[in-house]
Amino acid sequence: MTFIILNILLLQFRTIQILIFMKLNRPTKRVLCLMLSYSTIGLGFSNPSFAQTIKTFTVKTDKSIAKVEPNMWGVFFEDINFGADGGIYAELIKNRSFEFAKPLMGWSIYRNRQKEGEVLVVNRKEVNEANPRYLQVQRQTDDFELINEGFKGIGVKKGLRYDFSMMYRQPIPGVKMVLLLKAANNKVIAQTELTPLQTTGNNWQKQTASLTATETDPKAKFSIIFQGKGNIDLDMISLFPHDTWKNRPQGLRADMVQMLADMKPGFIRFPGGCIVEGMDLANRYQWKNTIGPIEDRKMIMNRWNVEFAHRPAPDYYQTFGLGFFEYFQLAEDIGSDALPILNCGMACQYNTGEVAALDELDPYVQDALDLIEFANGGINTKWGKKRAELGHPKPFNLKMLGIGNENWGPQYLERLAIFTKAIKAKYPEIKLINSSGTGPDGDRFELLNTALRTANADFIDEHYYKPADWFLKNAGRYDSYPRNESKVFVGEYAVHADSKIVGANRNNWESALAAAALMTGLERNADVVQMASYAPLFAHVDAWQWAPDMIWVDNLKVYGTPDYYVQKLFSTNKGTDVVSITTDAKNIIGQDGLYASAVTDKTTNELIIKIANTANQTQTIDLALDGKKKIKSKGFIDELENSNLNQLNSFDAPQAVGPKRIELSLKGKKLNLVLKPYSFNVIRIPFNS
Ligand code: AHR
Repeated sequence: MTFIILNILLLQFRTIQILIFMKLNRPTKRVLCLMLSYSTIGLGFSNPSFAQTIKTFTVKTDKSIAKVEPNMWGVFFEDINFGADGGIYAELIKNRSFEFAKPLMGWSIYRNRQKEGEVLVVNRKEVNEANPRYLQVQRQTDDFELINEGFKGIGVKKGLRYDFSMMYRQPIPGVKMVLLLKAANNKVIAQTELTPLQTTGNNWQKQTASLTATETDPKAKFSIIFQGKGNIDLDMISLFPHDTWKNRPQGLRADMVQMLADMKPGFIRFPGGCIVEGMDLANRYQWKNTIGPIEDRKMIMNRWNVEFAHRPAPDYYQTFGLGFFEYFQLAEDIGSDALPILNCGMACQYNTGEVAALDELDPYVQDALDLIEFANGGINTKWGKKRAELGHPKPFNLKMLGIGNENWGPQYLERLAIFTKAIKAKYPEIKLINSSGTGPDGDRFELLNTALRTANADFIDEHYYKPADWFLKNAGRYDSYPRNESKVFVGEYAVHADSKIVGANRNNWESALAAAALMTGLERNADVVQMASYAPLFAHVDAWQWAPDMIWVDNLKVYGTPDYYVQKLFSTNKGTDVVSITTDAKNIIGQDGLYASAVTDKTTNELIIKIANTANQTQTIDLALDGKKKIKSKGFIDELENSNLNQLNSFDAPQAVGPKRIELSLKGKKLNLVLKPYSFNVIRIPFNS
């Protein structure tokens, strides 16, 4: 109440200010504007006024103070916000195998005359537990049409081929099928005919067809018109665009993978996130159910289906078309380390908190041991052989594994100890990621952080979703962390703007700039913080549950938020060695709103300096390079800046906040840099060899 009254008073005060301001003459207005620019109005950054002095930043170019791990900056992938099904997994048919709780969800049947029993969903769970339902069509009357609405429509591109496939059998042959793509206005924009083979008997067959679109439509639908007479059973009705990533049949959306590849991420954390834990144990992620023929991958409800009452997603399921083999393959494709996270015998503690009894943990632990064998084992081992059968005889070179996602409490520690003992006994080389709970402080964090450090954990996974000011204040968080103990993996983080800001609007420039400021602190402490990933990664504009997210997509397009460009600038400028950058012999963690870190890259022989200017004024810096190395005469700055902290990127303006390259002429060892207000700058300076 007090808060509301204060805000009303503040608003009235501001209105009076504006009215007085309008009456002033021009020079007075100018002076007032200048003064106002030294304070922020409700933007979250508290900008103190300070005098415009030129600051000197000293960089000790010759002395490496820490190594930067090659996989320092990675990505966090979870099937949230329709990131996998309906997102990067390019399947266009929703509920292709009729296994959703409502078996015909996503499908509609159009016919002139109703014939009872003509279309049935049949359940054969006694003989096919993984994929019990199929559609039985008994054709006797007029043609009828079966339409699939896709995931929030089907994105169709003019000139592109679409690949259809189905599993079927024909107890009584004679049915013919016309396959159509229809635009949102029902215009047919692709068409082909398919006559199923006559002689399937009782055996399931697969048949394919393709159709090419004559028009683009982001919200098309897919239709099958049944003609002729006869009986046909259908399952796994599937449609993929032909232009998948690496043209793999039934593969991934190329534009979304490309956004990841462009970041050159050091690792991919998968498959989550809370879906690892599940609402309850039955709903947990089980990797063994996600490999092999897609018709055998037993799908489950996605826990984000029901998580938020204000963002219900009743049609959100995990088909596991993007399963563990595909995750490993994706990591390999884009040169990243795979970082799987496994369930530790505990379901999400925000939901049921169901735990596996300690003396019944074996199957969970075995899943972890088998996963390591699946990734790294020789082809003569049980799981290595499976990997080879799936088309990858070479090991995936798994180096690390997460045990539990955001699990906490003594019950986590008990279960973790059992996992750790078993895994370290067989695979001592595998680094284990341990959870520190749901946030970076408080009793929950302290209990785990202390216990895990005592147990000499390899990595402690810290998560923080906090306001911009928290990020700025914590840019020095790791400066005082113990150096020779467990390492930190900042496995999920994002600046969460005011909760009144919703959806993609949360990924504003203020959030990204505050993240950049904190990330300079991660980089400066690369000996302690050895990995970090922003979260979540993807969101569909029509189907999200959680925001902010790094990359937003619709059915045809994709754009990177300002956060994407901050992340990309860090991961593509990671360097190999941290060097000291200070002002007045102190780390640069907010003096006059500036945050900085520096690395050298021994492979390219360059100095890379990152500076975030979170102040609303231009700042001039003298860079003093202290070291024997001489520099070349040309370098550049990649600059991200916007004077409006609320600036967003969008499909129409995907790089409203995007990097601009500015060439630098360099001379001697002193450089003068002008940093724009609200800017993040990556300065690359080549050394003379
Ligand atoms: O990133 C979104 C969610 O945030 C993750 O699933 C979970 O680990 C965290 O609470």
